[in-house]
Amino acid sequence: MGTIILGTGAYLPERVLTNQELEKIVDTSDEWIRTRTGISTRHIGGKGDETYQLAAKAAANALQMAGLSAVDIDLIIVATISSHMLMPSCACFVQKELGAGKAFAFDINAACSGFVYALDMADKYILADPGKKILVIGTETLSSRTNWEDRNTCVIFGDGAGAVVLGHGEGEGGIIGANLFSDGNLWALLHMHTAPSCNPELLQAASPGVHIVMEGREVFKYAVKAMEEAILKLLEQEQIPLDAIKLIIPHQANIRILNKLAERLGVSAEKIFINVQKYGNTSAASIPIALDEANRASRLEPGDIVLLCSFGGGFTWGAVLIRW
Ligand code: COA
Repeated sequence: MGTIILGTGAYLPERVLTNQELEKIVDTSDEWIRTRTGISTRHIGGKGDETYQLAAKAAANALQMAGLSAVDIDLIIVATISSHMLMPSCACFVQKELGAGKAFAFDINAACSGFVYALDMADKYILADPGKKILVIGTETLSSRTNWEDRNTCVIFGDGAGAVVLGHGEGEGGIIGANLFSDGNLWALLHMHTAPSCNPELLQAASPGVHIVMEGREVFKYAVKAMEEAILKLLEQEQIPLDAIKLIIPHQANIRILNKLAERLGVSAEKIFINVQKYGNTSAASIPIALDEANRASRLEPGDIVLLCSFGGGFTWGAVLIRW
């Protein structure tokens, strides 16, 4: 009994950018990108692919699976770091796009951990009011926040959206628990500025621009350790052994991070869902896209225990356990 996933959905823009195309943009190679990151392609938005539009399409797919319509939704939480406007929220644009007139809507920013944070928040709303139906969406157009001259970052990120519809269930299934963490001291290792300040007193002398800046090596080390700790703490908190987990669906940052995580946990690579090769790192969208893919590929059966884990700018990280 608890918060259950009634439907999942995803949407990726049509345009696919290959490593070979990136070779023409920056000094890189398909071989370097594949061996260092595991990424072969990523989807890049075009006209009609604003962050909220990807989100609305992913949400429509999730609603269809749930057998609900937009007017049934009470709350829309969108996790994103790449909305086309700072105000209104991306979630308000999604509400308008879907025609979800009954819902209140807001965004959260926890970078690549945004979906996991939003899922935990939605779980708490439903525990407080089991009648609520909630859309939780992770959506990004990181192509609009990428420095296309920086080979350290532009090969890594992609665009896309994933969504879940949540409600209350009386059966065995549902969200079991979550564990979330942040450490703002480490902000500089992975960050993105906003537009330059209009207040001269607050204007930073050397604004690096509105794009992602990353210390890759440092991020790598923290990501593996943080996700491992979050997983082990959550399993201990919920008294569930690691071998009871059917599938781990992690944030799709990088194949080497995921392989290292599997190695440190001592689980086989098949237990970790991986699709980073197709989509790159889609930040808050990566977990719901992967969850939808696993769900539609029938990798999840009723009763299976699924573990979601994330790591991102902030730093933010965390894990959520779900009984399917
Ligand atoms: N193509 C070719 N060479 C590249 C390159 C690219 N796209 N990007 C960086 N390089 C070069 C660097 O300039 C450096 O060259 P130098 O030795 O001449 O200075 C060399 O490759 C090694 O760079 P380094 O950053 O040490 O490589 P790495 O092995 O750490 O791999 C990452 C770089 C980014 C792939 C890796 O650090 C990583 O995956 N980090 C985590 C990133 C991440 O997942 N972020 C999101 C978390 S939510």
